[in-house]
Amino acid sequence: MQEKVIIFDTTLRDGEQSPGASLNVFEKLEIARQLSRLNVDVIEAGFPVSSPAQFEAVQRIADESDKIIAGLCRAKEIDIEKAYQALRNAKAPRIHTFASTSDIHIQGKFADSKYGLSLAEKRKTILKMSFDAVAYARTFTNDVEFSAEDAGRTDIGYLAEIIETAINAGATTVNIPDTTGFTHPLEYGNMISELKRRVSNISKAVISVHCHNDLGLAVANSLFALQSGARQVECTINGIGERAGNASLEEIVMALKIRSDLTNLYTDIHIPEIYNTSRMVSGFTGIVVQPNKAIVGENAFAHESGIHQDGMLKNKQTYEIISPESVGVSKTKIVLGRHSGRHGLKNRLTELGYKPSEVELNQLYDAFVNLADKKKEVFDDDLRVLMGDEIYKKQEMYELKYLQFNSGTDTIPTATVSIKFEGQTMTDTSTGDGPVDACFNAIERVLGIKLTVESYNVRSVTSGRQAMGEAILRIRQGEVSFTGRGVSTDIIEASAKAYLQAINDLKVYEKSVLIMDENNRFYIGDKERTI
Ligand code: KIV
Ligand code: ZN
Repeated sequence: MQEKVIIFDTTLRDGEQSPGASLNVFEKLEIARQLSRLNVDVIEAGFPVSSPAQFEAVQRIADESDKIIAGLCRAKEIDIEKAYQALRNAKAPRIHTFASTSDIHIQGKFADSKYGLSLAEKRKTILKMSFDAVAYARTFTNDVEFSAEDAGRTDIGYLAEIIETAINAGATTVNIPDTTGFTHPLEYGNMISELKRRVSNISKAVISVHCHNDLGLAVANSLFALQSGARQVECTINGIGERAGNASLEEIVMALKIRSDLTNLYTDIHIPEIYNTSRMVSGFTGIVVQPNKAIVGENAFAHESGIHQDGMLKNKQTYEIISPESVGVSKTKIVLGRHSGRHGLKNRLTELGYKPSEVELNQLYDAFVNLADKKKEVFDDDLRVLMGDEIYKKQEMYELKYLQFNSGTDTIPTATVSIKFEGQTMTDTSTGDGPVDACFNAIERVLGIKLTVESYNVRSVTSGRQAMGEAILRIRQGEVSFTGRGVSTDIIEASAKAYLQAINDLKVYEKSVLIMDENNRFYIGDKERTI
């Protein structure tokens, strides 16, 4: 008898914690819809208490999704209440609460004497906090997950005690994260087996695993844990996440599928949607998938050497253990041209996983015709880019209306930009070290700001001479950084769009961040808020 593995996708929570990745609410909604088509079991939509934008994203996903929607919260009442408020309309809400359990975490994060003086006292406090948090969460929903943060480096005796306590308090899933990616596969698998031996009530909860990739072992560790009895795996699309990332969903799913003879485990993932999901997440986050990445990398199904090509022509199975079509990689990438109609565009977008509304479709069609005029052939990736632009526009404050630049071997690079803001269009001109610098300077002059660009990259996202160029950059303001992404057949325009996108995100953030004044009143922008 094969047993099912629950796929808990945390792309929108841990994945979004990847350096430089920030998704707006519309992009998150679009990804959540795609995750539903991929048929994951649980979508962790965010960390509601952490910001109003996170709260809104979790709420909007919960409002429309049929899936189990999880909201993360610390073991604190305020976090749990916020998580529930965001999840309230979900068909299947899950509160996911966590507390640190390793000595390193306890001594660092719970150093304050209010948690106890000795390590033993602090451990007791955390035990109680965890019990109370799970019990409190259970007053809102029957589906509560408890995570022992940094379980991978936690003393096994204490880990068993806290897991037993969480289950006694009502946890229905207990997660054993390897938060720092420290463990080795055999060790991690043994940890799961040991918990099954030591925790007397373990059969009342599903054991979950959540592995980070600091040693490149996240997928291997997850697989060992599943072999040892875990039945939920937490993972992300393209393996994005904190630092070196999380275990990659597509690798785990395909490893289980291709070698089901070894594991006797299965998932309900709709495998042909894997590639679409990967492209969407890469496009929206701006995190490029490495070409040799398993399953979804550009070279995953490319055969370079003559011997391999010859073998493939004779029998595909000589060098191919997965067929590209099975994960949604299509060979024919040319889809539409300038004579294609609205209907054809809509059909292809639907096949790529998007569901544009009629209004969006009309706007997209105009953008599509524009692009088809510049390029003879419009590829799937071009459509993904257009769709990304359309979704982004929903929260745009400053809109690039016009751009002209002049540069050459004997010319001082000069750029003129016009930006629309609240119905008014403002224009200014500037010079710079190159055309990109001149554009950025002109944008700054229009907006009256000065920013530091931390990183800047340009690459082509589609193929051929008329490829679309993508600019990705990061700006920083104090503690927070914002990523901007712009795409165009003209890389200077792509750069200007990327810069403006990052500035837009900065402005949205400034408007949504909670500020406390000297009278302990809270404000978001200039509006007072009660919390
Ligand atoms: O890595 C980790 O420990 C986490 C928990 C919050 C589940 O992301
Ligand atoms: Zn994590």
